[in-house]
Order: sequence, then structure tokens, then C-alpha cells
Amino acid sequence: MPSGYSSRPGSWVEIDLSRLRKNYQWIREKINPETKIMAMVKADAYGHGLVPVARELLKLGAPALAVSSIEEGILIRKKVSPHIPVILLLGLLPEEISACLHYRLTPILYNTETAFKLHQAAQRRNIRVQVHIKIDTGMGRLGVPWFEFGAFIKKMEALKRLQVTGLTSHFGQADDKEKPYNHLQWKRFLEALALARQTGLELTENHMANSAALLNYRRSHLNYARPGIVLYGASPFESFDGVRRIKIGPAMTLKSRIIQVKQLPAGVEVSYGGTYTTSRPETFALLPVGYANGYPRILSNRGEVLIRGKRFPIIGRVCMNLTVVRIESSLRLPIGEEVVLMGSQGRETITPEELALKAGTIPYEVFCLLGGMNPRKYLGD
Ligand SMILES: Cc1ncc(COP(=O)(O)O)c(C=O)c1O
Repeated sequence: MPSGYSSRPGSWVEIDLSRLRKNYQWIREKINPETKIMAMVKADAYGHGLVPVARELLKLGAPALAVSSIEEGILIRKKVSPHIPVILLLGLLPEEISACLHYRLTPILYNTETAFKLHQAAQRRNIRVQVHIKIDTGMGRLGVPWFEFGAFIKKMEALKRLQVTGLTSHFGQADDKEKPYNHLQWKRFLEALALARQTGLELTENHMANSAALLNYRRSHLNYARPGIVLYGASPFESFDGVRRIKIGPAMTLKSRIIQVKQLPAGVEVSYGGTYTTSRPETFALLPVGYANGYPRILSNRGEVLIRGKRFPIIGRVCMNLTVVRIESSLRLPIGEEVVLMGSQGRETITPEELALKAGTIPYEVFCLLGGMNPRKYLGD
């Protein structure tokens, strides 16, 4: 439990590490046998907690981890493993070079300015540094534009202290199998790979496949696959088909507890703005959860929660720390009764995909928000 939270919080997320293990094994079965897994633990392991997740992945034999910040890389070195390869997906700022070398992290390079500075720092220490080069094959996001890659790799040749062990790129639309743009990106990546190999680079650590590409484009698995969202048990598509849903499950559950139950007469305008008016006597349960817990306000009058294995609607606006749920008056619910806002209870499930769809977002954002803004309890150790 992170500091600053009570040991019995009103709302919290549970992270089921046994689910993470199953998802990892499922990915292992899905990818080419010779492809290794570079597990995405960036953004605090998609809100699941960097250190506990990375420790679990280490136990599973994950060959490499990828992070978004140098701080995350350092945390892995200090608390998880002194050896596991850690890839810095966003590369380095100049002031991070020294820590990168000290902690033996593997940066992704995409500009010559940083490459020169890293080379100089390595020279001063009389060491060689392993680096990966990121190519923008058309997503228009981070990386050396594919049409500038030839010039870039030529400049890298002079930087003998930098050992380029892999090329990387990222698909922008791999969730749509039919998109010709995916093929264009893949073709450009292969061209860059061929060009780099012509310069004598060995390149045994190439990677491009996120979860969607892992499922849709087997040929893009390369030396490493880079799954994130499927590792945490949600879909890179709008939903999972039945088979995948059975094989993969979310590791994260959002729970809360009832702090008040009351019956109100007709004519009450519930919560801020009075967006819901009782038309008869109705019974409500109050939950200490709201947008300060990352629960989207857009779920006002739209979301549902699970109590005793049944769905109940959210009534009125979701507030900062409170949410009102309409329940059946016949239910005699005690204070402290557990409520599930995302996850399973009995036979009912509110999936991350359902919650995300209703909130107009994607499970990635839901995980980051809920995981980042609530105390986390770990199960399945
Ligand atoms: C560069 C990069 N690779 C891999 C991933 C993993 O993607 P996914 O979570 O869809 O598997 C991400 C996620 O955003 C990413 O930015």
C-alpha cells in the first residue's frame, strides 16, 4: 500500500498477479518460439505498479523490460534486478546520460545530438554502450523519419562507443488488420533493417510489435515483441472475442465500499446539477469513490457497479470523492459492503473495455488513471 493511504481505504484497486502470470504465459504461446518478450512496464506498469509487476515478470523469466522514464529504469535497477535489460523507450535528455551509463540502461536513440553526447560520455568512461535506434516508419511520432535513416546510420558509424544492437519502430494502426498502412510501415522497417545490416551492424535485438501487431501480424514479431495491454489483460481492439476473453483477463479490479444507505422521497434532485430527480421513494448507496480516484465523471448517470453479483446504476453526477448508486430497497446492505466498479463479482463482470467504451476512452487510460489514483492491493503472490 503506498504511503498516504489508510490501511483500509474506502476505494482501492486490486492487482491479481496470478492473472498477470497467465496473461504472460498466453503471450508466450502466441508469439514465435524464437521471439523474446520485452514486457512493457512503462507508465508505472500501466498503473499496475512498476516494482511488483517487474518482480513478477522477472520470476517468469521475462528477458527484457521497457520503461518510459529514466526514473523507472533506476527503480528497476535498485529494486528489481541489477541485470535485466531495461529499454528506455523515450530515449534520453542530456542530463540523464550519466545515470543511464551508471545504471546500464539501454536507451533508444533518434537524434544525433544525443548520440554524440552519449558517445562522448562513454568515451570518458572507456566503455561501450548498447543502444537501439528508433525509426519513424510513418506513424509521425517518435523516431528518425524513414527517409532520413540512411544519413542517420552513416553518422552513427563514427560513434564507435555506441553499439547498435537493434532497430525499432511502432505501428500506428495495427489494431486494424485490413489497413494497408501497416504494410507500408513494415516495408519501410525492413528496408531500414537491410540498409543498417549493409553497414555491418549485427542487429539481433529488433522490435516493432505491440499487442495488436502481436495478434495481427505474426511476421512483425522479430527478436522481441513489446506487449503492454494484453499483459495486463485488456484488449488492444474495441473488445476481445470470446476465446481471447477466456484466455486473457484483467489483472486490475476497482473496488469500493458502501458508506451510507438511505431511502429518499420523490422529487429529490440527486448530486451536483440535479441531473436525476427521484420519481418515487428510491433507495441509494453512497460510495467513497469519484473522479479523484480516476473514475471518469462522464459515467455520471451512465456507469454501473456490481453489488452482490448484480448490476446497479450510477445516479446523478460522479463527484470528486462520492458516487451515488440506486439499489433495491429489499437489499439489506451493511455499511462497508464491497462494491465492484471494474472487475467481477459473482457471475457478473464489468470489463475494462466496457468501462472505457462508456467513458469514451480506451482501457489503457482507464488502467493508468485507476491504478495511479488509488491504493493498490496485490493478490495471487
Ligand atoms: C513504443 C511502444 N511500444 C509498445 C507499446 C505497447 O503497446 P500495447 O500496450 O498496445 O501492447 C507501446 C504502448 O503505448 C508503445 O508506445
